[in-house]
Amino acid sequence: MDRIRIVGGHKLSGVIPVSGAKNAALPLMIASLLTPEPLTLENVPRLADVRLLIRILENHGVDHAIDGKRTGDAPGAGQTIHFSAKNIVDTVAPYELVSRMRASFWVLAPLLARMGEARVSLPGGCAIGTRPVDLLLMALERLGAEIDIESGYVVARAPKGLRGGEIDFPKVTVGGTHTALMAAALAHGDTLIRNAACEPEVTDLAACLIAMGAKISGAGTPTIEVQGVASLHGARHAVLPDRIEAGTYAMAVAMTGGDVLLEGARADLLQNALDALARTGTTVTAEDAGLRIVRNGAGIAPVDVTTAPFPGFPTDLQAQFMGLMTRSEGVSRITETIFENRFMHVQELARLGARIRLDGDTAIVEGVRRLKGAPVMATDLRASVSLVIAGLAAEGDTTVHRVYHLDRGFERLEQKLVACGAQIERISDPG
Ligand code: EPZ
Repeated sequence: MDRIRIVGGHKLSGVIPVSGAKNAALPLMIASLLTPEPLTLENVPRLADVRLLIRILENHGVDHAIDGKRTGDAPGAGQTIHFSAKNIVDTVAPYELVSRMRASFWVLAPLLARMGEARVSLPGGCAIGTRPVDLLLMALERLGAEIDIESGYVVARAPKGLRGGEIDFPKVTVGGTHTALMAAALAHGDTLIRNAACEPEVTDLAACLIAMGAKISGAGTPTIEVQGVASLHGARHAVLPDRIEAGTYAMAVAMTGGDVLLEGARADLLQNALDALARTGTTVTAEDAGLRIVRNGAGIAPVDVTTAPFPGFPTDLQAQFMGLMTRSEGVSRITETIFENRFMHVQELARLGARIRLDGDTAIVEGVRRLKGAPVMATDLRASVSLVIAGLAAEGDTTVHRVYHLDRGFERLEQKLVACGAQIERISDPG
């Protein structure tokens, strides 16, 4: 299994290109199931999760073709992938595949909407909490689906097609909103979605669905209206830049000090986190090419944050911000309100010398003058990268184990950091 070795203490300076967003690419790829015509996605990141979802879609009969390199492409430019779900040959998503990636459960809505039936394995728990799917199923039931749970599978039927309805989410859910949008797009009649997620990835999915002929208004606000259409057609759509990747590197620069241009990053996707970063004493400037992050010799001021649905502070940056706060000149409080168990990085940060105490859903972080490198291991993607950030500023060697978590969501992580002066390398163990 691969490891990442970091020798800390190097400032970051240079340019980091921001890849396409994993959490936008996955639902967009799944939307290809809604139409027999080709859906072309540009700026798709090269990630393990994308490759796994391609395999899952193949199992339903979706063909894909990836464009080769084109003249003028920047090194590491996003991929263009053509998906064609001309013939859906299988409406079953088996446990072996769904259990490896939670988002693949989202195939349920387009399969049901287009084929009138689907059988998708329940995803099960994961390292950041129980993560139920009750609200996704509620949304489909509101649109007329009959849902049964049989042997660990959700069996959804709508033999006469889905029909429009009112979906009132009691809690903001990104996956629930993706599900409602994809199902309502092909339902008979109108759907009203209340308390919808406003995350940019939801807006990106809605934009792609609109390009495919869906009639959607209000995406990006809590109230979305969808007028169902009989069929959707092919389209071409570029995946939006990854705000979580951009925020992660911004925090890395704040941690090590330096001056980095995050090429392609957009402040409007990340405002709350950028405000928090600015309060730490980091300079954030929006430029034409992206966001410039600068921190010179000054110390890191302690800043409290509480995660919340967009436009609040993203849960997917909570671990990274905690990494940064371990070196602050004071005490900060980090409160997690989205997932009940997203503090798995605390113990591992402690191995580097961080002082963190947990009090329910709040982590109280007492900044320390120095972190010291150590072997660490993480149980999820964002937790792993928080250890990388801490390792970049720690004295000596840090080895991050279970790199496959990082490969799920960070494209060319080591190369991007090395190009800015970090000492970081991947060590592949034989066998
Ligand atoms: C998406 O997960 C993201 N995943 C997560 O990113 C992200 O942390 C999360 O949204 C919140 O922003 C992808 O986009 C692939 P939710 P999702 O439904 O849609 C509860 C990463 O690291 N809930 O918005 O699964 C749920 O337990 C990942 O890239 C129910 O109670 O999250 C949570 O407390 C991790 N019932 C809250 O809602 C349901 O049926 C928000 O979850 C569904 C959700």
